[in-house]
Amino acid sequence: MNRFTSQSVRLKHSVHTPDISQIPNFTKYSPIKPINEELAPYVLETMKAFPSRSKHINQQHYYHNRTVLIQDYLRKRPHPMSLTQLAQYYDDSSQLTKQKIITSGKFVKEELSIRMAHKLNSLQQLPFHVVNNFHFVQVYESYYNIFERFRKYPTIRTIDDNWRFAAFLRQILQDFNSLNLPHLIMGALECTILELYPQDKMDELLSSLLRARISRRLIVEEHISITSNYASGKKENTLVLGDIFQECSAKEYIVDASKMCQKFIQDMYFEKVPLPELIIDGELDLKFYFLPTHLKYLLGEILRNTYEATVKDYIRQGLEKPQPIVITIVKNDESFIFRISDRAGGVPHNDKNIWSFGKSKERASESLENFHRLPGLQTVSLYDHLYQTKHAVSVDKANQPYRHTSLEPMSHSNLTSGKFRFETPLIRLMERSYRYKLGIGLAMCKVYAEYWNGDLTLHSLPGYGTDTVLKLGNLMHTPRKQQLDKV
Ligand SMILES: Nc1ncnc2c1ncn2[C@@H]1O[C@H](COP(=O)(O)OP(=O)(O)O)[C@@H](O)[C@H]1O
Ligand SMILES: [Mg+2]
Repeated sequence: MNRFTSQSVRLKHSVHTPDISQIPNFTKYSPIKPINEELAPYVLETMKAFPSRSKHINQQHYYHNRTVLIQDYLRKRPHPMSLTQLAQYYDDSSQLTKQKIITSGKFVKEELSIRMAHKLNSLQQLPFHVVNNFHFVQVYESYYNIFERFRKYPTIRTIDDNWRFAAFLRQILQDFNSLNLPHLIMGALECTILELYPQDKMDELLSSLLRARISRRLIVEEHISITSNYASGKKENTLVLGDIFQECSAKEYIVDASKMCQKFIQDMYFEKVPLPELIIDGELDLKFYFLPTHLKYLLGEILRNTYEATVKDYIRQGLEKPQPIVITIVKNDESFIFRISDRAGGVPHNDKNIWSFGKSKERASESLENFHRLPGLQTVSLYDHLYQTKHAVSVDKANQPYRHTSLEPMSHSNLTSGKFRFETPLIRLMERSYRYKLGIGLAMCKVYAEYWNGDLTLHSLPGYGTDTVLKLGNLMHTPRKQQLDKV
């Protein structure tokens, strides 16, 4: 009898105790009237403390974050390193041995977890309404996702483990994370329009996130490169900098960029539109070691501006033919300079925001609108990926994520033949159609030029023209500089 009573009491008690893992239902206390049914789903979504479909930001996020991120990974410091160290993996020879590849794999796994943790932390320090912006949430979640994937990746012990790890790295470079670049910029633009964050702070935030992104990509790409070298029997890096750097002919890159711009101008106007003459001057034979994608991006963005301004000026003034564009190549031991001179009348308006990701509200709205029109961006969401547990969603069909678990299809020729292109998000952004004026070309280029110990300046003489001066550091001159300190 006694036993029965106590059991029934316990039963009764448990029925009335709310489950502590559930959010209490506060709505019954709320004085707010129910919202219009049609709008309700949208409004409710914005009132939640975390996105409802998120895998990482949920009720457990705070505790997970405390124990894993704050108490563990944030206590570890990232390792700034030089390009030589990166290519040689803390050993003074460029010979690739099995052990070195495995050590490199171990290092990359740990270093990427630490670097991602520090970036997550810097996003967490932002005001809530900034990090809660739709685009920044995408970046935050994607960073958390990468952090978790690296952190939980099993330790690399054997060369077979490393083949799998390299495939995993390639997948990370190609899956939905490749949308982080546009999301970061769109987030900055939205915050400018809504006046959520001071412009100078936003620019500093974006530069630091972009610099860290470059460093992380270098670490990952270098590891994929040495792994694929090793797989294909090439047991030595060609360069002290590593094989992701290549000897680039200045003239060839300029000519390629100008061809792209000519096509872009023909698309913009008509096929027979007179094109400006291109004169290349100075150190015509200059060949230097650089990251091909970065050089292509920088010259492409800058020449796009020059061509556009020159042809517009030709039309505006009703000239007989467009004014020529003169590119002068200059070098000394430490740096290379590309001076791109046009006679297109100078920068039309005195826009102080030319180097900023923020811009004025009006220009930010224009840029944002064009971002929204960029093909391939609207349709992919991080949440699709998280919900499709089996397969990652790719940005486009031609760029299917790498789903193999071993590295067989990846040989050195595969890497260098262009089948697998590094930094596709950057190049895709640069090759966008003229229709999409994004207004952030110069701001981006400055970050990239400065990363490589260089600079980007604009000297405009109103009524005459503009000199755009791109300076890049000679990486072979300072291969031991701790270049990857931007974390
Ligand atoms: N060579 C140039 N001559 C005249 N104006 C230029 C030149 N280069 C850049 N500009 C001005 O700087 C602005 C910002 O350039 P950019 O950051 O590349 O963004 P976007 O080209 O998308 O507008 C351009 O819109 C243009 O007004
Ligand atoms: Mg531009």
